[in-house]
Amino acid sequence: PDTGCLSIIVLGASGDLAKKKTFPALFNLYRQGFLPPDEVHIFGYARTKLSDDDLRDRIRGYLSHGKDNGEELSKFLQLIKYVSGAYDAEEGFRALDKTIFEHEVSTKSTEGSARRLFYLALPPSVYPPVCKMIKLYCTNKSDLGGWTRIVVEKPFGKDLASAEQLSSQIGELFDEPQIYRIDHYLGKELVQNLLVLRFANRFFLPLWNRDNIDNVQIVFREDFGTEGRGGYFDEYGIIRDIIQNHLLQVFCLIAMEKPISIRPEHIRDEKVKVLQSVQPIKEEEVVLGQYEGYTADPTVPDNSNTPTFATVILRIHNERWEGVPFILKAGKALNSRKAEVRVQFKDVPGDIFRCQKQGRNEFVIRLQPSEAIYMKLTVKQPGLEMSTVQSELDLSYRQRYSGVTIPEAYERLILDTIRGDQQHFVRRDELKEAWEIFTPLLHRIDRGEMKTALYKPGSRGPTEADELLQRAGYVQTHGYIWIPPTL
Ligand code: BG6
Repeated sequence: PDTGCLSIIVLGASGDLAKKKTFPALFNLYRQGFLPPDEVHIFGYARTKLSDDDLRDRIRGYLSHGKDNGEELSKFLQLIKYVSGAYDAEEGFRALDKTIFEHEVSTKSTEGSARRLFYLALPPSVYPPVCKMIKLYCTNKSDLGGWTRIVVEKPFGKDLASAEQLSSQIGELFDEPQIYRIDHYLGKELVQNLLVLRFANRFFLPLWNRDNIDNVQIVFREDFGTEGRGGYFDEYGIIRDIIQNHLLQVFCLIAMEKPISIRPEHIRDEKVKVLQSVQPIKEEEVVLGQYEGYTADPTVPDNSNTPTFATVILRIHNERWEGVPFILKAGKALNSRKAEVRVQFKDVPGDIFRCQKQGRNEFVIRLQPSEAIYMKLTVKQPGLEMSTVQSELDLSYRQRYSGVTIPEAYERLILDTIRGDQQHFVRRDELKEAWEIFTPLLHRIDRGEMKTALYKPGSRGPTEADELLQRAGYVQTHGYIWIPPTL
């Protein structure tokens, strides 16, 4: 049941993820009334010896954002308690259990049920021992209901074998409905909108296939490098950091068949199917890059060939998509910051306006920043002449939904974990398929068998990537650029 005492336990409470994402998301939920103070308690757990107030002081600065929310903030911080202990020690987890239990007993509104949400803001290497400790000493034991859930975040392994190993270690301890694998892209407003766009609009149903669509691009660009995260990043690289998870999740939602219903299992079934239809990646359909200066980071080895940029083409072997390239592209230290999906349609057959040179129809979903959905189309140039011009139908969120605050991805996802909705989380079999697709390529890269082109920070990335795009059939529009409208 979704009432009664709720304990949220943040493991790795003094780490980066907890400070920057988990606690701010919890605070936002609290402010909106989703974490009623008479039911909820938050516990931080980590190795460092700290008092409750030490932890509160450490996170305070990440929550205030210079806004005048002093009173709310202090009330929220009072909900947080801290327990220190090792990640593999019985003693620490027994102490944690005791602290949680005391809170449960003292919570008036509870009718006995106790909900325990464990958020592992930790490196995956400690997931197995931590899960074991939770299972042994900290699960909810109330006879009157409630639950125990575990929230984990990527990297889930480094390749198929290591990911499967991790999955089975956790799977021996908890059932799949208890495990929430976060991919925060699934918490983004426009990613969540993909399903609605595709399946609630008659416009798209007949067009969404190989007869009409020429190519699809799913693009992630950042205009900064691996600042301060070089050590982590170098072990993983851009494919594991962004493409195999964030972009592949978007890919699934764009390419999958219509689910039987919007029930989480039905949706995730379809995602698995489309992943299973992806063909092996061809070496000539991959371009890798590394920005100049990446290895200057002292935590990155001088001879690192880890890609900070990659373009990878996926091809789906099914009736809908045979022959349509899905171009997944991600890069750090590029000339702009944005994430978008760009569906490019084929040329109009028998074109009488000779407008093809101006560019093709495109349907663009701008995930961030300046969330928008727009369609690039050809119209008559207003005026006396019968000439054509590229224009757009534009649904820009800031303009259309002014006054609406778009929730942070983590905020929404944590709320889902409390409500028990797994739709926006990655299922074990989905994860396995995702690794199957990329593992052979990743192994080749790890063995140094793939070329990595250098590119200038602040550029578009390696020129080879643009050439690959062209070869794949993408036609760049010239003389037209969509500009997000200002209010
Ligand atoms: C994280 C990656 O998962 O996503 C980072 O590890 C990346 O490298 C980040 O910067 C991007 O997230 P967002 O929400 O800012 O697009």
